[in-house]
Parts: sequence; structure tokens; C-alpha cells
Amino acid sequence: MFIDSHAHIQLSQFNQDREAVLKRAEEADVSNILVIGFDMETSLGAVELAEKHTHIYATAGMHPHDAKDLTPDVLKTFRELATHPKVLALGEMGLDYYRNLSPRLLQKEAFEKQLDLAEEMQMPIIIHNRDAYTDILPILEARPGKIRGVLHCFTGDVELMHRSLAIGFHIGIGGIVTYPNAKDIQAVATEVPEGRLLIETDCPWLAPQFRRGKRNEPAYVRAVAEKIANLRGASIEAIGEVTTENFQKLFAC
Ligand code: NI
Repeated sequence: MFIDSHAHIQLSQFNQDREAVLKRAEEADVSNILVIGFDMETSLGAVELAEKHTHIYATAGMHPHDAKDLTPDVLKTFRELATHPKVLALGEMGLDYYRNLSPRLLQKEAFEKQLDLAEEMQMPIIIHNRDAYTDILPILEARPGKIRGVLHCFTGDVELMHRSLAIGFHIGIGGIVTYPNAKDIQAVATEVPEGRLLIETDCPWLAPQFRRGKRNEPAYVRAVAEKIANLRGASIEAIGEVTTENFQKLFAC
């Protein structure tokens, strides 16, 4: 069994064939899917899907690209959504210094507000990072023991991995690990302690090598597990088992 810990199957890219996508995931032994919101609309969309399917869970959060949209009203809605039985975490939230679609100061404000909410609601978080570890890690380090969660689609090196582990975070490994020149991520996937590893697709984006450039979907999380298994000299079943356990523990489901 495998759990896709980061998918965006609420998006319109799946409107034509969402049921078929879910069927393929089931056939690939993907037992659960965590559907990630990144603004108001996609958070509500995630919850809607989770209400329809017992094996689907949701999150609510505001992406740093849209930091300006995190109004008091939206934050209030996220607080309400956080009490929904199928909402397991807040996010994705974080910082994105690659595309810089929002001013950095605004990104940090939105991030801190969502961290406050996570502390208040005692919920784990999903972190989005692009070229911003040097700011994200100190922000998390300033709240020792108060925030748990996952650095999704981890793209740092082993040193950054160790810093993330030190503050108690999990490491989410996605399709990039299957790209031949992704040496840093492969090193991380090899060395991350078994108890902190999660697997994900980030679909519809970041399809693994065999579908690279095409639409990604939850069934392909298997390819991520397979690559990690090869790197670690483990069986794909063992990777499935341990990442499923980690998911259930972190998100209390
Ligand atoms: Ni995402």
C-alpha cells in the first residue's frame, strides 16, 4: 500500500477523468490521497473531494504566491476547515523566492499567520519551499517543538535535510527523485531516516521520469517508492509500509 501525501486532484486538469484517475490509483495500491489546498478555492475543492471519498483527505492553506489573499475572512474559513474531520493539516504554506510572485515581506507575514493558526489548532503543516530554506528554517527553528509537518517536494541537500530533521520535520520525496541528474535529492532519499520519509506526487505537476513533462497522477507515486527502494536497497513493499505508517502517525489518521 502507498499513500500519496501531496496531490492536487481537485484541479480542473482532472475534471474530464477524475474517476478514472482514482481507479488507476486504487489499482496501483494507493490506499489514501491527501489533497492539498493552496488558496481558498482549492482548499474548499479538496474538502469537497474528501467528503465524497472515504480514502481521500484534505488540507487548507494559502500558497506564498497568493499571500495577499490571506485576509482575516480567509483565515477564519481556514480555522473552520481545520475542525473538519477530513482535514488533516494546514498548508501548503511557505516561501517561494524562485518565482517571487508576492513580495517577500508579504509572503513571510502570510506564512507566520498560518503557523500561528497551526499552533492554535495543533495541526501539522505542509510546507512549500522554492529557494527559500535559508528563511524558512529559521522561522521554524524559532518555534521549537510547536510545529510538526512535512517539507513537501524536498529539493535541498543532505545538510538541509539534517537541519529539517533536527526541528522534527518529515521529508516529502516526489517525482524529481526519478530524474537521472537529481543527485542531491537521491542522496537525501537514501539517507533520510526511515521514520521521517513520506512519498508524494504533487500531481498534476512533476511527473516521474517515465511520464516526465506529462500530467502526473496519484498512481505514479509507485514510481517514487520504487526509485527510493532501489536507492536504499529496500523492497518497494517496505517503502510503502514505512511511509504509510509515517503518514498515519504524522497526520493522526
Ligand atoms: Ni503542491
